[in-house]
Amino acid sequence: MKQITPSALGFLDEALSDAKRRNLFRDRPPPSRHAPALSFCSNDYLGLAGRPAPAEACGAGASRLVSGDREIHARLESAAAELVRQPASLVFASGYAANTGLLSALAGPEDLIISDALNHASIIDGARLSRARTVVVPHLDVGEVARALRAHAGGRAFVVTESYFSMDADSPDLVALRLLCDEHGAALLVDEAHALGVLGSDGRGLCAEAGVCADAIVGTFGKAFGAAGAFVAGCPALVAWLWNRARPFVFSTGLSPVVAAAALDGLRRAGQEPSRRERVSQMAAKLREGLVALGAELRGFGHVVPWIVGDAVDALRLAEDLRARGVDVRAIRPPSVPPGTARLRLTVTAAHQSGDVERVLDMVGALRGRSRSQTERSRVKEEIRRQGRVIVVGGTGTSIGKTHLAEALLHAWRRSARVVGIKPIESGVVDHLVSDAQRLAAASSFHVKQCGYALSAAVSPHLAARDEAVEIHPDVAVQFVHDAREQADGVVVELAGGLFTPIADGISNADLVARLAAETVLLVAPDRLGVLHDLTATIRAASTIPLPITGIVLVAPEHPDSSTGRNADEVRRITGVPVLAVLPRGTPTELAENPALRQLVEMLSAPDNLNLTPGPSKAPSF
Ligand SMILES: Cc1ncc(COP(=O)(O)O)c(C=O)c1O
Repeated sequence: MKQITPSALGFLDEALSDAKRRNLFRDRPPPSRHAPALSFCSNDYLGLAGRPAPAEACGAGASRLVSGDREIHARLESAAAELVRQPASLVFASGYAANTGLLSALAGPEDLIISDALNHASIIDGARLSRARTVVVPHLDVGEVARALRAHAGGRAFVVTESYFSMDADSPDLVALRLLCDEHGAALLVDEAHALGVLGSDGRGLCAEAGVCADAIVGTFGKAFGAAGAFVAGCPALVAWLWNRARPFVFSTGLSPVVAAAALDGLRRAGQEPSRRERVSQMAAKLREGLVALGAELRGFGHVVPWIVGDAVDALRLAEDLRARGVDVRAIRPPSVPPGTARLRLTVTAAHQSGDVERVLDMVGALRGRSRSQTERSRVKEEIRRQGRVIVVGGTGTSIGKTHLAEALLHAWRRSARVVGIKPIESGVVDHLVSDAQRLAAASSFHVKQCGYALSAAVSPHLAARDEAVEIHPDVAVQFVHDAREQADGVVVELAGGLFTPIADGISNADLVARLAAETVLLVAPDRLGVLHDLTATIRAASTIPLPITGIVLVAPEHPDSSTGRNADEVRRITGVPVLAVLPRGTPTELAENPALRQLVEMLSAPDNLNLTPGPSKAPSF
């Protein structure tokens, strides 16, 4: 028979090459890397994962609702419930399935989910699947949780958090969250994935430690208990509901009996062998003390040890150097963590010997003392620079041609690079009209999921958000831009309104720009009477942050006046900021052909960034 070669997935080759070009491709580790290295990045906290599996049947053969229910499942569920002092539990194939199943079964489009900004991807995805309105609150910010609960009218509310965050090794104020939830009739859902087995008295986790009864607790068997799978514990009604409605549970083969038996064995050992937990705590204390003595800045408490190195280059280099000496640790860099907080995430397990910790500390001491060659530094720096550039298009006000300029930039730039335009916050979005974000998306070289804030009232974003009881969090917008940056050579970010337009109470666009750490900030202004005042005032205000403006683009107004065409030199002289282009009116495609705009694009994409001088961070002088 003639073989037909399918070609529909050909686009994957291109996408994979692109990821490789950007150093974002995650390859499988070579076989040599499976060889035992001294691992300080495993979640096998109690050192139980390497034991042999108990003798049990391999497969359940069907969903538990059909014929896959086994006695071992029930035994595991009562042990898990007993561990977290809840009446019942239900086991899932993984923690990912437990979180997505729980949230999508409980919440619906009328409801509100309040989620900590550092919650795990499975919680984020569960919230998305539920189609509930989700407010992401800054990490550990109980005040913001209270605000979101107060602003919520109608529908149910769910507050979801981890009890021990795996990147920052910190913990929320569970008592305060419980009290708040009680006050507002909201449910408290706590993921104890990284705490159970290790933290709290008898390893029962941080809810038990705080004396807090959560409405649901998620625990995983793949971390401290050295197996796989997970559970949701709560009241019998919750378990019955999940049995009926949690789609990753209902429409999936029951947890393999051998895995369930291994998980049960892990739970038992964790309870019966407290020395494992004690060892973890001793080793963690030793590692933390040793690193602090070497001058390291650490975060949080317990067995996860986030060492804030600051510079991503240094973090990468340190991780590479340690790996080269047989110690496996991972560098976590922006955008996974905020800029300037690149870190090594070290985890301590019961399998570590005192000598292992000493070995790592000796290596760290030696490496920190050694000065790095300039060429090595610039090589790693170059790797990091492969992320796309962020060009912010802001302005002196609203309806002054920012979207026009952003679209034209994208049209011209996409001929030579992969670029994407986003407007992370937009008000005045009406269903039957094309939004600015959609216009930018159409002008981009590829599509990113638009997950910014689209608000309907044509008022300042903070007021539009208030009308819709939406909380705008700049960190969410920043994350959105960083995600786009990973896939593009350039990201054009258009601000909503002027540079000092409020986007949330007490926060303006300028604060958002400061957090974005953009390479370039362009200020758009209409070339008409009043522009000298507006630009001077804006640049003077920016200098107080301080926020250097890279350059100004003057755009011909719809109704020119006698000053149109005469402002550029004066703007330059008074503000000290270069005027990069004076553009006529025209469609974005016409503008993309304009020589001044093409020159601007060339400057933006020049290999060593801008040969532009950023604007003064001091106030303009007259
Ligand atoms: C907080 C949290 N919840 C859930 C999960 C998912 O668990 P699993 O690996 O069992 O899918 C993880 C995994 O790292 C996690 O960190």
